[in-house]
This record gives sequence, C-alpha cells and structure tokens, in this order.
Amino acid sequence: MQPDNNPNDNIQIHDLHFTSLLSEAEVQKRVQELGAVLTERYAGQNPLFISILSGAFVFASDLMRAFKGNCEVGFVKLASYAGTRSSGSIQTVMGIEKNLRGRHVIVVEDIVDTGRTLHFFLNQLQIQEPASICTVSILRKPEAAAFPVQIDYVGFDIEDKFVVGYGLDYEGLGRNLPGIYQLQENIA
Ligand code: IMP
Repeated sequence: MQPDNNPNDNIQIHDLHFTSLLSEAEVQKRVQELGAVLTERYAGQNPLFISILSGAFVFASDLMRAFKGNCEVGFVKLASYAGTRSSGSIQTVMGIEKNLRGRHVIVVEDIVDTGRTLHFFLNQLQIQEPASICTVSILRKPEAAAFPVQIDYVGFDIEDKFVVGYGLDYEGLGRNLPGIYQLQENIA
C-alpha cells in the first residue's frame, strides 16, 4: 500500500521539521487489515507476538488487539540507532524470557530500514526452534534494504527518509504521535 501525503500538517521535534505522511486513520485502517489477515492465518494456534522494543510497542499493542483469538506477547530490546542514522552494530539489551520451542511466532517491527536488526534477530530466533516464524512491520523502506530479510506482512512501503510517530522517535521524542511524519529536508 502506498501512503497518501497530507502536506498541511507540519511539526517540529528538537531541531528538525517533519511533515505528515500517514494519518492516524490510515495507520489504524491498515493495522485492522493486518490483524484480520493474522486472525485467519493463526486461527486456533495461540501465536506469540514478539515486539521489538522500543519502537514496535505501539504497533504491537494495536496489532494484537486487532487479532481475534488467543495470543500471547513477549518483548525483546535491540538497539542499533543513534539520531537519524543506523549505528551499524546491534546489541540485545533485553532478551525474551519465554520458551519458543514449538511456538508460532509473529515478530513485530516498527520499521525495516536496512534490515540489519531483523536479520540479526531472526538468526537468534531460529536457534530456539519455534514451529513457525512470520514477520510483520508497519513500515518498510525498500530503497534502504541491505540485508536479506523476508517481511511477510508490510503496512506501508515508504521512501528512504527518516520518520517519526506511531512508536518511532527522534532523539526520544515523537513516539506518542498517532500518525507518521516524514523528515522535511532543506528547511532553514
Ligand atoms: P534497520 O536495522 O536498519 O532495519 O533499522 C531498524 C530500526 O532502526 C528500527 O526498528 C527503528 O528502531 C530504527 N529506525 C529505522 N528507520 C527509522 C526512522 O526512519 N525513524 C526512526 N527510527 C528508525
């Protein structure tokens, strides 16, 4: 799905200016669609949603409530970003405490940029022998892809520009914005 741009809604976070990319209504509509697809695919299977912290907690919270049926949730914390650029190395700051063997796992990401984070995490996940793994991300930047990762369900493909909102931050701020905003370049 391609985003509609609404140029009327501009915000500033710290030193940067952002313009509206996806409204709250557009995001919520897509989350409900993804929830319906997962509900059908995992009927009766009690899947385990694994949310990658920090950014994906907002999406994971909405997505699991759009899932109709039994499901569980777990969290991992990985870190790779500093400011508006990926730092190049990944750290597991907090690992998952659940036994994943034989579980149907749904990995929930906020955004797939280079794919480094997900590539790293999926390799770790395989070792724990889940019954199945699928990946869901509310956003993906196809032009930035540098690591071979399969994203089974994507909310929106977007341009390779920095975004905030719906869980995503710039230097700590912006996660609570219900819509998604894109960095405006060339602003004095
Ligand atoms: P990747 O490892 O390069 O795919 O980057 C994935 C992680 O970097 C995401 O989970 C986000 O936390 C962060 N990230 C990537 N792009 C953005 C962005 O545009 N805004 C905010 N965070 C981002």
